[in-house]
Amino acid sequence: MQATQVEELLLQALEHERGGVMVYETALECAVNDELKEEFSKYLDETHSHVKHLESVFEAFDLDIEQASPVRAIVHDLGMSLVEAMKSALLAGDAAAAELVACECVVLAETKDHLNWTLLAACADKLTGAQGKALKAAVEAVEDQEDEHLYHSKGWCRELWMKALGMKAVLPPPEERKHVKTAIGAARAEQQRGEMR
Ligand SMILES: [Fe+2]
Repeated sequence: MQATQVEELLLQALEHERGGVMVYETALECAVNDELKEEFSKYLDETHSHVKHLESVFEAFDLDIEQASPVRAIVHDLGMSLVEAMKSALLAGDAAAAELVACECVVLAETKDHLNWTLLAACADKLTGAQGKALKAAVEAVEDQEDEHLYHSKGWCRELWMKALGMKAVLPPPEERKHVKTAIGAARAEQQRGEMR
C-alpha cells in the first residue's frame, strides 16, 4: 500500500466527518418530520463519535489531525457548500422544500463518507501492528452506522420527494423500518415499498 495515500485518505475522512457534524446541525434546522429529526439527531451524535474514532487512529499513525493537503481543503469546501445550500433553502421560506434540500445534502455527504469508510476498512485489512489495530477498531465501531446513514437517508429522500409529488409515500422509509445495513437490503426494501404503502 502507498503509505502517503493512506494518510491522505485519513486527512480527507477526518475533514469530511467534521463537515458532517455541520451538515447534520444544519439539516436538523431544515427537518420538519419529527421522525426525520430524531434520525438526523442520532446521526449527528454518531458523526461526533466518528470524529473521535478517527482522531485516535491519527494518534496511532502519529499523524497531525490538522495536517493540510490540497484535497483536504476541497473536502472542507464541498462540506461547507452543502451547509450553505441548506441555509439558502431555509431563507427561501418553503419548509418542505428546505427539508428535501437537506435530505439531498445528507445523501451527498454520506456517499463520500461511505466511500471513505469502505476504503478505510480495506486498508485496515492490510495494515498490521498498532496502526492496523487502531484502524480495525475504528472501522468496527463505525462501519454499520455509515451503512445506516447512507441507505436510510436515501430512503427518506425518495419518500419525502414522493410525498411532495403527491404520490403515496412510505414514512418512515422501508429502509428504516427494515433496519437495512447493506446495499442488497436497501435494494430489497425499495423493491418492497409498494406493499408497504
Ligand atoms: Fe461518519
